[in-house]
Amino acid sequence: MTLEDVSVVHKVRGSGLLGSASVYALTEASLVIRAGETVGVVGESGCGKTTLARVLVGLQRPTSGRVAFRGQSLWEMSSRERRLTFGASVGTVFQDPSTALNRRMTVQRIIADPLVVHHRGSSATRATRVRELMDLVGLPSAVADAVPAQLSGGQRQRVAIARALALEPSLLVADEPTSALDVSVRAQILNLLDQLQSDLGLAMVFVSHDIQTVRRMSRRIVTMYLGRIAEEAPAVAVEEVARHPYTHALFSATPRLLSATRPIPLRGRVPSATNPPSGCNFRTRCWRASDECAERLPPLSQEESEGGEVRYRCIHPIREPNDLIQPTPSP
Ligand SMILES: Nc1ncnc2c1ncn2[C@@H]1O[C@H](COP(=O)(O)OP(=O)(O)O)[C@@H](O)[C@H]1O
Ligand code: SF4
Ligand SMILES: [Mg+2]
Repeated sequence: MTLEDVSVVHKVRGSGLLGSASVYALTEASLVIRAGETVGVVGESGCGKTTLARVLVGLQRPTSGRVAFRGQSLWEMSSRERRLTFGASVGTVFQDPSTALNRRMTVQRIIADPLVVHHRGSSATRATRVRELMDLVGLPSAVADAVPAQLSGGQRQRVAIARALALEPSLLVADEPTSALDVSVRAQILNLLDQLQSDLGLAMVFVSHDIQTVRRMSRRIVTMYLGRIAEEAPAVAVEEVARHPYTHALFSATPRLLSATRPIPLRGRVPSATNPPSGCNFRTRCWRASDECAERLPPLSQEESEGGEVRYRCIHPIREPNDLIQPTPSP
C-alpha cells in the first residue's frame, strides 16, 4: 500500500461573510505500508490521523495525490473493482464499536455480512467461517445470537475485529481501537490484535494518541502534526534515533525505565487546520525554530539507523541530548 503526496482538503462553510474555508486535514502525505509490518501513527488530536486511516482504507478519496494498492491506483479503478479487489483486502476497526456495529443485527449476522456482500461461499460455509472467526477473536459461541447492546464493550470490539477479518484481508487498519474501552479490557484487545497480526501475517496500521501503546504495537512509528507527516522512525529506539523535535516532545512525555529525560512541554495549542503556519508547520511551538523554518517546507531527510530508516522534515534536527534543552521563556 502506497501513498504519494496525498492531501485531503475539506471545504467548510465560513462564518458570516467569509464564504467557505478550507480545512487542511492531510497534506502531501507519502507513506509505504509493507506486507506483514505494523506501522503506528501518533499525534495530538486533530492532526489528521483518522483522515490518514480513512484514506488508507479507501473511505476517503484524496483531494490530490495517489493511493495505490499492489501497484494499482485505487481511485482510477471503477467503484466495482475498488470494492471487489481492494475492499476485500483491507479490514477496518474503528474507535467506538457501539456505533460501528448495526445494533439490530445479531453477532453472527454482523460477522457474516462482508461474506454476504462479497458473495463468498454458501450459507453453510459462511456459518462455519463465522464460528471460526468467533473462535479466532475469543468470542464464546453463546453470544452468536446476541445483539450488540447485550455485549460488553470488549466483546463488541471483538465482533468488529472478527468482521474486519472475515474476508482475510492483508491489511488491518485500527483507528484508536481501545480508546472507547474500559482500561481493564484494553490490554486484552491489544494482545488480541498483536496476536492476530503475527499469526495471520497481517500488515497493520495502528492509530492512537497513546504513545506507549503505539510503541508497544509497532515496528515503525509515523508522527503526524497538523496534517503532515513530520517523521517516520523505527519504534525500538525511537528516543535515540528520532530527529524531529515534535517526535521528541511526544515521546518525552511518557515515563521510561532506563533514562530520565525531562518531559518537553508542548506550549500552546495546535494551530488551526484552516490556516496552518507557513514553512514548517510546527514552528509556532518549536523551541529550535529559526526564521528559516518559516520560509519553506523543510526537505525530506533520510538516515539509516540501527532499527531501520528514519525520515523527517526538520532543518535543525535533534542529534544530541543538549538539543532537547529548551530555553526558559523570558518573563
Ligand atoms: N469531514 C470533515 N469536514 C471538515 N473538517 C474535517 C472533517 N474531517 C476531519 N476534519 C478536520 O481535519 C483535521 C484532522 O482531523 P482527524 O483526521 O480526525 O484528526 P485526528 O484523528 O488526528 O484527531 C481536524 O482539523 C478536523 O477538524
Ligand atoms: S524545521 Fe524548524 S520549526 Fe520545524 S521542527 Fe525543525 S527546528 Fe522546529
Ligand atoms: Mg481520530
